[in-house]
Formats: sequence, structure tokens, C-alpha cells
Amino acid sequence: MTDKANTQHGLALVGVRGTGKSTVGRIIARGLCLPFVDADAELEARAGKSIRAIFEDEGEGAFRDLEEQVLADLTGGPPAVLATGGGAVLRDSNRRRLRQFGLIIWLTARPEALAARIQSNPRGVADRPALTAHGTLAEISAILEARTPIYQTIADATVDTDGRTPAEVADAVLEACQSAERRSGGSHTT
Ligand code: S3P
Repeated sequence: MTDKANTQHGLALVGVRGTGKSTVGRIIARGLCLPFVDADAELEARAGKSIRAIFEDEGEGAFRDLEEQVLADLTGGPPAVLATGGGAVLRDSNRRRLRQFGLIIWLTARPEALAARIQSNPRGVADRPALTAHGTLAEISAILEARTPIYQTIADATVDTDGRTPAEVADAVLEACQSAERRSGGSHTT
């Protein structure tokens, strides 16, 4: 369990693409009467172009720099429910800021479920760059293998999204937050 003293009492959702961070985050924010912020949407608004276009024009490194700036601003802002991009946990600086921001919940799913969700969302396919040359299912498996240890280390709690509706996942996240708070003896908004 991460030391949550002096946090700003926010709630950050982490996990790979297709776990429903934005959809679920919106539902949770409504339930908690907190603002919802989506780091990828904020980044695209600032850049004036899609993430896919940023990757194509400037490369992944430039995207990660922008992502770090956006996360620094959002985690330094008022308490909120924050949906992060799947790779937001890759930089140590981002992980530090997320920990200070509040509780971190890792959303998981089987690779097959993730691939089906990603492929059924045409906007997600059009606006997001491929992260490997492997194709959707193999890419998801490779990304999961590489990032699972990072998500495991940073998360206060894990919520499986397989076979659950977004509303059911949101309820499970809130329960996980309450248990995490009880374990840490903290007093978070969530
Ligand atoms: C990325 C995930 C994307 C977006 C970018 C990079 C990643 O966010 O930030 O394409 O490295 O996994 P979503 O998880 O919201 O799709």
C-alpha cells in the first residue's frame, strides 16, 4: 500500500487501452460529485490534433513529454476523477504525481475482451496509434506483459472489468476505494 498522506484526495484510473477508464471514470465522477478529467482528451485539445497524429508527426517521445506535462497539471489541480492514458504509468515522474494525487485503481481485462472492445470502438481505432507492429491481440498481450508489473506496483486496488457493465465496474471501483481507504486509515474523497 502506498503512503497516501498529504494527497489531494483524487482518484486515478490506470490500465491498458480498452479497460474503460474514461467511460467508467465519468460514471464514478457523477456518483461522487467530482469533476471528471480525461488526460488523453486534454492532451489532444492542447495539441489541437489526435494522439495518432502526434505519434505520426512528432513520434512517441514527443507524445510522452506532452503526456507528462498534462498529468503534472491535472494531478496538481483540484480533486477529480482522472482517466489516464494506458502508458501514463511508464514514467517515474508520472507515477510519483499520480500517487500524490490520490488513490490509484487499476482496471484489468483478458486480452481477448480488450481486443473486442477496442475493435468495436471505431473512434478508438482511428485516433489511437498502434503501439507495436503485432496487430491488436498480440499487441495487447505484449503491452500487458510489459506493463503488468508497473500497474501492480502502483495500484492501491485492482478491479476486473471482464463481463461487467461500466456501471458495475464503477460500483466495484467505489467498493475497492473504500476498502483501500480502510486499509490505509486515510480519509479520501472516494
Ligand atoms: C497509450 C494509450 C492511449 C494513449 C496513447 C498511448 C499507451 O490511451 O494515451 O495512444 O501507451 O497505452 P488509452 O489507454 O486511453 O487508449
